[in-house]
Amino acid sequence: MNNKKYSVTVAGGGSTFTPGIVLMLLENMDRFPIRSIKFYDNDAARQETVAKACEIYLKENAPEVEFAYTTDPETAFTDIDFVLAHIRVGKYAMREKDEKIPLKYGVVGQETCGPGGIAYGMRSIGGVIEILDFMEQYSPNAWMLNYSNPAAIVAEATRRLRPDSKILNICDMPIDLEEKMAHMCGLKSRKEMQVGYYGLNHFGWWHKIYDKDGNDLMPQIKEHVAVNGFADALSDSNQHVDPSWRETFTKVKDVYAVDPTTIPNTYLKYYLYPDYVVEHSDKEYTRANEVMDGREKHVFGLCNEIIEKGTCKGVGGFEPDAHATYIVDLACALAENTNERFLLIVENEGAIENFDKTAMVEIPCIVGRNGYEKINQGAIPQFQKGLMEQQVSVEKLTVEAWIEGNYNKLWQAITLSKTVPSARVAKLILDDLIEANKEYWPELH
Ligand code: NAD
Ligand code: G6P
Ligand code: MN
Repeated sequence: MNNKKYSVTVAGGGSTFTPGIVLMLLENMDRFPIRSIKFYDNDAARQETVAKACEIYLKENAPEVEFAYTTDPETAFTDIDFVLAHIRVGKYAMREKDEKIPLKYGVVGQETCGPGGIAYGMRSIGGVIEILDFMEQYSPNAWMLNYSNPAAIVAEATRRLRPDSKILNICDMPIDLEEKMAHMCGLKSRKEMQVGYYGLNHFGWWHKIYDKDGNDLMPQIKEHVAVNGFADALSDSNQHVDPSWRETFTKVKDVYAVDPTTIPNTYLKYYLYPDYVVEHSDKEYTRANEVMDGREKHVFGLCNEIIEKGTCKGVGGFEPDAHATYIVDLACALAENTNERFLLIVENEGAIENFDKTAMVEIPCIVGRNGYEKINQGAIPQFQKGLMEQQVSVEKLTVEAWIEGNYNKLWQAITLSKTVPSARVAKLILDDLIEANKEYWPELH
């Protein structure tokens, strides 16, 4: 350890995940010591509720850590080492529209997949680039650890628009799934496994899983997944526990059946079984409604209770997000040169041999003080290659549409999504999305 104490800014301070991440940071101070935590958000009122509660928690539990919250970029991004970015441009009100508009036309309505993910991408690009620019202006040596969604589109946009920026894009879905697979094999943690993985974000497959001694764990995992998917596997995540998540974990067994040589990411169900997903969706009550009635009410309820009482003592349920320790692992890898392996979303450049060199792919990387090194995944099978070529084109066309303000490219992006049946339906959805996103999207010509 180099005895340095780090200064961290949480961008999206008003996020439902912020309290869990702050508590998780405090729990890990022995290996990642912190001198300052700042929150930044563009919604002062939403952020204030979370910030006031966290301020009380910090005073009671870690008074040595400086704390501030602000909507002023200069204050937020000056003198910092890391930005942890989890913004949601348009908040849940727009997530609800992303999900409900495609469903109206019989198409998958999902946060990051299909037309909903494309719409969210068109909002997120500007928000994430703005924060990256603030960081580079006020703290040029800082790193941004980004998990704002849709990560695939955000990553492609930063590759195109800010190719030299210090940003690492990462997703927690493989972390949770690896945790579940480790438990299937009787291991204590995913850290006891070494994996081979290739794909795009929310669109990938494990093709190798070994234990620490190099024993192949795939046969045991496949046997389990073929029968139960990930449904009955344990993990430390308190995030993916609602009934709709359990349903997703169960459906993995049908996704697996299509290619029993690999283990799929849960998100592939939206592309391989869109008809099933639509049939099982409630057009009036989607995941956004579930989250607003569940996680959002719960987190903001606890924050308000802490603020009213002026103390966290006796207020249950304000808990560290154990599952988010991967963020500290990643920050430590950069700060302390641990050379740990992570699945990151990075430019392919031949790491997947038979795939577009400029694609942003999700693959294992070794992370250290100077950034990351990619681990070559070889050539991928025709089935995955075909799917990925289509999906990466959706992501690239979306980013081009955003940069150029190009209507046709966005129409093409939606048409190309495997979740959408025709150019006609794509256009109907697009025109509704344009209307709904007037405040957020660039004008399209
Ligand atoms: P949330 O709506 O509760 O929080 C997002 C916050 O971002 C809000 O307070 C909002 O005001 C703020 N915000 C929006 N636009 C902003 C901007 N331009 N600048 C600064 N702040 C802005 O959302 P949530 O459900 O807590 O999720 C937050 C984000 O984390 C989402 O993007 C979600 O998709 C993502 N997420 C990613 C992963 C992953 O593994 N990659 C996991 C969970 C959540
Ligand atoms: C997983 C994904 C995230 C996504 C989240 C949605 O963790 O990796 O990228 O944001 O699920 O969860 P929610 O509970 O908001 O539907
Ligand atoms: Mn994700």
